[in-house]
Amino acid sequence: MEIVMTESPAEAAECVAKEILNALKAKPSLVLGLATGSTPIEVYERLRAAQAAGEADFSQVRTFNLDEYLDLPAGHAQSYRTFMEVHLFEGLGIPPEQIHFPPSEGKNLIQRCQDYEDAIVAAGGIDIQLLGMGRNGHIGFNEPTSSIRSRTRIKTLMERTLRDNARFYAEGEEQPTLASTMGIGTILDARRILLQAYGLKKANAVRACVEGPVSSFFPASALQLHPNTTCFFDPEAGQYLAMTDYYRATRANKQALADSGRM
Ligand code: GLP
Repeated sequence: MEIVMTESPAEAAECVAKEILNALKAKPSLVLGLATGSTPIEVYERLRAAQAAGEADFSQVRTFNLDEYLDLPAGHAQSYRTFMEVHLFEGLGIPPEQIHFPPSEGKNLIQRCQDYEDAIVAAGGIDIQLLGMGRNGHIGFNEPTSSIRSRTRIKTLMERTLRDNARFYAEGEEQPTLASTMGIGTILDARRILLQAYGLKKANAVRACVEGPVSSFFPASALQLHPNTTCFFDPEAGQYLAMTDYYRATRANKQALADSGRM
């Protein structure tokens, strides 16, 4: 894992957006794995700004979202599809048939979760997967004890996750307790993974993810098994890490090797 200690979420978002935009230049039909939540919003703002300025063309991009609530009515304000429309897709120019979500209603859910896996494979696999992280270490909606080799499936959400997300629902409004999510195995198949975590409320999770043991009890720790993951933290989220000096030195050395044309 590469750990990038940034000064602020804005600096991190700049790095992540830059990497996506560079990858898009190199491969116009880029396959993106996308996340919801407050964490990636600044990245999405930068992607939209690049498109609006005529610096990026998303018309061939294919997207696969990590997860979706089950049985929210179409167009519900809290569905992840609505979130993505509002924060990224609106006006970005990706044809609707190139935008994919795991199943969110109806029958044959096992088969349709498999269809989602098949669609990712048919697209050639995910080039860049964006990730945030829940305070209990979930990635997508892979709650603690999710198998490290799990694939897209329906998960029951934990009480703590429901509490964390309750702020988005009106009082008395029913909150879904089930969701479809890419599995940890699905996520680990991505060629590149960019994880972001910000703020004091994520500090314990960041330490467990990076410096704790690999355990299905803390799903984000499975990223330690991925050969090409970079994690971006702000000072608050990174404050319990034991090896921040080493992470900074590693980053500086990598930059120096790149600057001298040796890497
Ligand atoms: C939700 C999503 C995750 C996301 C997490 C963190 O539970 N399913 O994909 O990473 O929330 O959200 P936030 O970025 O708002 O902290």
